Amino acid sequence: MTYRILFVCLGNICRSPAAQGMFRALMPKITTESAGTSAWHAGEAPYGPMQAATVKRGVDISDLQSRQFVAADFEAFDLILGMDADNIADIQALRPAGNETPLRLFTDYAPQQGASHVPDPYYSRDFDGALDLIEHCAAGLNAALSGSSAD
Ligand code: 4NP
Repeated sequence: MTYRILFVCLGNICRSPAAQGMFRALMPKITTESAGTSAWHAGEAPYGPMQAATVKRGVDISDLQSRQFVAADFEAFDLILGMDADNIADIQALRPAGNETPLRLFTDYAPQQGASHVPDPYYSRDFDGALDLIEHCAAGLNAALSGSSAD
């Protein structure tokens, strides 16, 4: 079975679908999904301005659809990545007893960027800035899984 990674943010229409999309462009053989800690946008495609920002970098995320994170995701994935500390706390609160699936901040994979979280562009409107950081994190994750060091 292939390695499975779940990317998680709040609404699952900006940061986590962008993270999934940038990462799967680098490592298409790894199984990826994304989810939101909220169900606010369940069933929706990624937010238009974020789709436009990824398309500018040659990455199409229009096939993705928002869904809420559920406790069963702890069993369905090998690695769960949150975009900020609130995401991590909300995910952790649903962890089944005895489950030990790794849960980390996406930004852990780009320590050279000095970011503690991926800022939410839904509020900041800085889609390109968020995507810059997401690209570094995706490259670092790719490097970590490939056994080499990040840029
Ligand atoms: P995301 O951004 O967590 O990166 O998908 C958000 C999208 C929508 C909302 C909040 C954050 N919202 O409040 O609807």
